[in-house]
Amino acid sequence: MKKRYVMVGCSCRGYSMFVERLVEKYADVAEITGVYDPNYVRAGVYKEKIGDGCTIYDDFDTMIKAEKPDAVVVTTVDSYHHEYIVRALDMGCDAISEKPLTNTYERCKAIRDAEKRSGHKVTVTFNCRFMPFFATIKELLLKEKVGKVLAINYEYCLSRWHGGDYMKRWHRLMENSEGLLLHKSTHHFDIINWLLCDEPKKVCALANRVYYNDTSKCLGERCRDCVAKDTCETAVSQWGHWDKPFYFDAEHVDGYIRDRCAFKEGHDIYDNMSVSVMYNKGTLLTYTLNLFSEHEGYRMVITGEKGVIIANHWDWGAGETSLEFLGYNGSHENIPFVYGEGAHGGGDEMLVKMIFSEDVPDPLGQQADSFAGMVSAMIGIGANESIKTGKTVELTEYLDTLR
Ligand SMILES: NC(=O)c1ccc[n+]([C@@H]2O[C@H](COP(=O)([O-])OP(=O)(O)OC[C@H]3O[C@@H](n4cnc5c(N)ncnc54)[C@H](O)[C@@H]3O)[C@@H](O)[C@H]2O)c1
Repeated sequence: MKKRYVMVGCSCRGYSMFVERLVEKYADVAEITGVYDPNYVRAGVYKEKIGDGCTIYDDFDTMIKAEKPDAVVVTTVDSYHHEYIVRALDMGCDAISEKPLTNTYERCKAIRDAEKRSGHKVTVTFNCRFMPFFATIKELLLKEKVGKVLAINYEYCLSRWHGGDYMKRWHRLMENSEGLLLHKSTHHFDIINWLLCDEPKKVCALANRVYYNDTSKCLGERCRDCVAKDTCETAVSQWGHWDKPFYFDAEHVDGYIRDRCAFKEGHDIYDNMSVSVMYNKGTLLTYTLNLFSEHEGYRMVITGEKGVIIANHWDWGAGETSLEFLGYNGSHENIPFVYGEGAHGGGDEMLVKMIFSEDVPDPLGQQADSFAGMVSAMIGIGANESIKTGKTVELTEYLDTLR
């Protein structure tokens, strides 16, 4: 029998990740019977794709009561995830949430309490775990290629086009996203937690905003009609095919501007972040994220007792993708890997397959539950706290209350 799903937050991500795939590839096992978003234009884009079997609602609870879905798919603005997850659980459904699961400790606790009282569960869609590239690294670690992991250095650069995009949209305000250490780094912290099979013990961090502070570069309210639209390094100069139906045509409903100038004052998130995390088994993670590189990608160096794994991946810019092992006997190996086709290095396709076709085996534990979402979020939450106070934040006590 088909499972029934409803969606909250008719976002671009929800459309490209779930709506298109469920309609085009999984219609035999899943149907989306209802959608809710405060913006009726975006909800209409969903309905147009899904078809007559889908009802647009103007209230979440009414949708759940009417549709009695098996699960709610939560793809709204990060700071609202917890509200809908808790309501879904309390109203008798499971929840499937985009990352980050949520972004404050109190919100994590509310979700855990709702899971306990309802008996329903939350799945977090950490698509990076499903990238064949990371699966290869996970297998190497499981085979003890480097032995015990002592240190990981993970450096992540976002280009001015992609990093700058976060300075244009709802993410630019802490109240919506709690910053990139939650919104973006939740992927990266989760990957490390999953690779290590370990939990973070404490975290300290530093951050500032060094690039998007330059308000002299703000020559217009928005890219679309800016005098610098053809020369500005962060300009949304090539509109994706989503931008018109999801944002420009929907602007009159809620006033949400998708291409606000990245240099316009008012944003309060950081663009330059450095985080250190000590894990229970002794691994020390040193992590950086910046939003102003000319290139986009990362370098991960995993140093163990028997050798070093070096993973490089550059989405655009000058870098290449490579996976190397340096043994302590002087050996050097280029490890064969697949960088998957499609969005997020093949991760999106694999994740949807595993969640919606229930017979797919999961030997590497790629499907993430709510606790994984909370552990990753708590690193970002602790890091934000450390940036504010200048102190190291102990995470174990928080995590113990979330088990
Ligand atoms: N896993 C990934 O790789 C990945 C990539 C991109 C985005 N995401 C996640 O997907 C989600 C959506 O991101 P996006 O950039 O596509 O967003 P978006 O800006 O396209 O859409 C956000 C939607 O939320 C709606 N919304 C606003 N307030 C709401 C409320 N109170 N209740 C319900 N809906 C509300 C808006 O009307 C809009 O339709 C976010 O959680 C984001 O973190 C994940």
